[in-house]
Order: sequence, then C-alpha cells, then structure tokens
Amino acid sequence: MSATSGSGPFLVEQKRSHYCGELRASDVGRAVVLMGWVATRRDHGGRVFIDLRDRSGISQVVFGPDVNAAAHALAGELRSEFCIAISGKVISRGENKNPKIPTGEIEVEALELEIFSRSETPPFEIGDDNDAGETVRLKYRYLDLRRPALQKNFMVRSQLYRAARDHFHQSGFVELETPFMVKYTPGGARNFLVPSRLNAGHFYALAESPQIFKQLFMVAGFDRYFQIVRCFRDEDLRLDRQPEFTQIDVEMSFVVEEDVYAIMEGLVARIWKDVLAVEIKQPFQRMSYEEAMARYGVDKPDLRFGLELTDLTALLAPLNGGGVSLFAGALEQKGIIKALKVPAENASTLSRAETDKLEEFVKGFGARGLARCKVGPGDHGGEWTQSPLAKSITPEARAAVNAALATKPGDYVFFQFGRPKLVNAVLGGLRLHLGHKLGLVTPGGKQWHFLWVTQFPMFEYNDESKTFAAAHHPFTAPRTEDVDKLLSDPGAVKARAYDLVLNGNEIAGGSLRIYQRDVQAKVFEALGLSEAGFRAKFGFLLDAFKYGPPPHGGIAFGLDRLAMLLTGADSLRDVIAFPKTQKGTDLMTDAPTPVADAQLEELFIRTKLPPG
Ligand code: AMO
Repeated sequence: MSATSGSGPFLVEQKRSHYCGELRASDVGRAVVLMGWVATRRDHGGRVFIDLRDRSGISQVVFGPDVNAAAHALAGELRSEFCIAISGKVISRGENKNPKIPTGEIEVEALELEIFSRSETPPFEIGDDNDAGETVRLKYRYLDLRRPALQKNFMVRSQLYRAARDHFHQSGFVELETPFMVKYTPGGARNFLVPSRLNAGHFYALAESPQIFKQLFMVAGFDRYFQIVRCFRDEDLRLDRQPEFTQIDVEMSFVVEEDVYAIMEGLVARIWKDVLAVEIKQPFQRMSYEEAMARYGVDKPDLRFGLELTDLTALLAPLNGGGVSLFAGALEQKGIIKALKVPAENASTLSRAETDKLEEFVKGFGARGLARCKVGPGDHGGEWTQSPLAKSITPEARAAVNAALATKPGDYVFFQFGRPKLVNAVLGGLRLHLGHKLGLVTPGGKQWHFLWVTQFPMFEYNDESKTFAAAHHPFTAPRTEDVDKLLSDPGAVKARAYDLVLNGNEIAGGSLRIYQRDVQAKVFEALGLSEAGFRAKFGFLLDAFKYGPPPHGGIAFGLDRLAMLLTGADSLRDVIAFPKTQKGTDLMTDAPTPVADAQLEELFIRTKLPPG
C-alpha cells in the first residue's frame, strides 16, 4: 500500500524524524515523520484518531478530510497492530490534553499515510492491563513483547549490560569468552547433554558456568576477567530460575575478599546510578552465614523489615522445656526452639482466624503445627492468651521467654521446635510471609538492602549417605585458620565464600579459590575423593595448577535476577525475551520436539520412552 499523497515513499525519501514517545509541546509546528504500530483507532466528528506506538511510547495522530482526503480515506482502513508510517505536523491539543501520557499536550496532524503491513486481529490486546493468560502470551511472545511494560523491562536490561561493561572496562578488566560445549563432569547442577556426531557415544555438556575456564584465565595471566555469559542448568524451574540464564561472571588475581567486594559494590552502584538514577551507599552490610541463619532462618535474609527470630534453646534447656512437653520432647531429640515475635504495632490485622491460616501456611514448609500465643497484660512481660501453651508453661519459663523477646501486651509470638533445618525453614518462610502480609514491605517500593553473606560452611553433611559434599564447588578455599580441621572436623570448616543478597534474593555468589596443592589434596580427602577420581574429572585443572597458579577469586551475578529486581518484575520471565515455561518448554516454537530417527541414528542415539 503506497503513500496516499503521491509524494516520495517513506523509508527512502522520508526518514523517521522522531520516536512517537518523544514529542512535546515544544515541538508544536514541527514537521515530523513517525513509524510504528496502530494501538487504537477512533472515528470522531469526521476525523480519524489513532494512537501510534513504537518502543518509546505513543503519539496521537489525527487524519482529517480537509488536510488530505486520500490519507483520511486510507486511515479508515487502519486497525490495531497495522504497521504504518505517517508524515505530518505537530499541533497543540489545547484544552483536550491528556495528562496521563508524556505526549499528551500534542497531536500530529497527518498529511500522508503509508500502510507497510496489515495485521490480523491479535489474539490479545497489546496493553499492560490486558488479562490474557501467560500461555497465550508466551505463544505469541513477539506480540507480548510489544507491550509497553515489557519494552521498558528490556530497555532496562540493555542499560544494565552497558553499565556493567562500562564499569569493568574502566576498572581494567578484560572481556573474554569461554566455551559453551564443555566436558561433562557429574556433581553440581544437572547438565544438558549434547551428543557428538564425530565421536560416537560421546557427549558434551552445556556449561553450567564458566567456572573452570575463568580460573584457567587466571593461570594464563589475564589477571582481571569478566564476561556476560549464558549458563545452562537442567534444574527444576521456579519464578527466579530459568534453564538458560545470564551471569555477569568475574575472576580476579592477587585478591582477597575485600577486593572482590569493592569491585562488585562499584558495579552495583554504577548500575543503580545509570539505570535508576539512585545513589547506593557503600560499603554494603556484611553478615556471617551463622548470624543470618540465627536471626532470619535463611542464608539470604530480606533486611527491609525486622521480625527477627530468637533462639530460646539455651534458655529453655535448663528448664527442661519449662513445663511444655512438646518443648521437652524436642530438646531430648537435640532439637532447637526458636520464636518469632510480631510486635503489637504490626499485629493489628492478625485476627485469630488469620493466625489459624498461618498454621496452614507453615504446614507447606513441612511444619507439623504453629505454636503461638498473644501476650496480655501482667507481670514479667505479660500473660499468654489464645494459646494452648499458656496452661502448661511454668511462670518462670514464661517470664524468661518474655524477657528474651522483650514482649509487651498485644505482641504475638510464634514458636517452632525440632530439627534446626526445619525450624529455620519454617520460621524463615513465615517471617517473609508476614513481612509482606503485614505491609512491612512496600510492593514495588524503592528500598534497596544489599548484604554480603560470608563464612559459609565449606561442606554440607548428607544425613542419608553420611558423607560430606562441597557446599560450593570443590575449588572454594577454606579459611586459613580452618585448614587443620579439614579432616578432623569438616563440619566446622568455613569457606571463603560469599553471596550478595538484595531484598531477600541471592543476586551473586562467589569465593576465593584454592591454589595450593596441599590444601586441594586435603579437600579431596575430606570429600572422600581420591586424587585419581578427581583427576578423571578435573585433571586439566590440576595440571594447570602445577604451573604457578596465582592466588585468585571471583564471583558471578545473576543478570536476569538483577533485571527482575531493577524493573520490579515478579518473574524472570518478564526480563528474558524468550523464556521457558516451568516445564522447560518454549510455547512459541514448541521446543523441545522429538526428532526423526535418521537424525538420531547419525548421532548413534536410540530413545527409550517411559511407558504410557
Ligand atoms: P552460582 O551457582 O551461585 O555461582 O550462580 C551465580 C548466580 O547466578 C544466578 N543463578 C540463576 N539465575 C537464574 N536461573 C538460574 N537457574 C540460576 N542459577 C543461578 C544467581 C546466582 O547467585 N561459578 C559460580 C560463581 C563463582 O564462584 O564465581 C556460580 O555459578 O543469582
């Protein structure tokens, strides 16, 4: 469909002069050429009005028979999502301005119109308040991506790449790439496999991270490396997990923790400044893993609100549970007793029915129940009411618990007892739930609480197999003062590992690495691995470490998580252009699909499907 005026075509002679969202009152009188998509069309008083949308926003365009009859007639054919070009003049909307949009003071009086392409009626309306389900939106992702909110998210993501690259280049880092198709090594995250046509029966793995390669860059002497890199992990998916995601990956030589923190805090400050124009204070708060678990029940505490946990074990153990048989039972089994206090001033919405609902909520975390009380008036911090514990707890124990929690009338206290892992998971989960429910966190608010969590345990004990496994990867350095305990008391060894947490989200993780052979050998031994066993997996790294490895350490940021938090999105799916569903499928292309037998044969593969 050509231009109606008979003048030169768009694209060649008439170039776009502005983005739709840029025009302001100061542009009145200007001749402009706009290109984009029809968001809405209305006929009104013999004139045709459209909202023309591009990635920057919308401008109202008006076609009048008196300005150009042919263009006006053609405008009658316009429908949603037609892709068009117009030329015209910016005029003032006078009294009819629309204060809701940035271009609301003006409109463009169209002289010419060209329809580049027509659109079928889209399967859903392209707007931020449409209620189309995610399934249909993912199937037509290219239309979903036309929505202003998603366009904005990807603009933020683009700024994020740029701020990161600027920061690292200015800080003397070298940008290098590492292979995606790598050697498969069991352990760690589950890998995706890639069959090798040239090597029958052999497979590559898709890299879960560039970990080993970036350490080899340090051996090679690059000193400061970064990469914005895709990683692949075949894990169960959640709102904050995708099977392919992007890391800002970093490794540095001749550093200790503080050097890594300083560079990364600089990165965060730069991103927040460039993307949100927000100044972030440095240095960030630090907290040991142990303290985080004790006070918040999780290793990634959300510090936007209080509701801290209090450990009552040491207080109630000498009192044999203080008259409460459930407490006594837990103590006998070497369990712990912890409490979460909701102060009266935050508890106004906590009716009895609400606290009953909380009991149901914690059962989702594996709790058997939720012991609780409301504190009333009285001596020693108050009587306990609304509680089965009230009858059995001794006055002495009640006074001690009240004192430990500094209770006052109207406070609620929730208890959990048993295995530490479960107690922390339940109360940590409850704390987060209450923080949101009681309005202690403003949704979409601009509170940014960064926290370094440090001194993680080096090993995780597996109750079933009765063995230790590396809590991070097996190249993570133990604290120097703990090296002697690697074999005698592995459970007590702390790693020189750190996570960066933002508002309860783990946004980065890293560590200093082992570079001394004797320490590495001890770690293998603690993990029950022979050097030969380890050699089979990582021989090339051990070999490399024979040739003067520098002391080094690094970290990786989850770029998608950063983008999610910067944009206020609820899910990684809103900041990844073509994401996978919870089942790992791509609803638009239908991946994954079966492939023809001939293709499999070429790869020496036969499939064996589960029955049914
Ligand atoms: P780690 O496994 O902690 O460390 O990953 C670093 C960061 O990547 C993000 N992340 C994810 N984001 C989206 N989807 C996923 N499936 C996913 N998995 C992880 C998180 C996490 O903090 N090689 C080490 C880093 C190092 O030691 O230098 C590593 O990969 O935000």
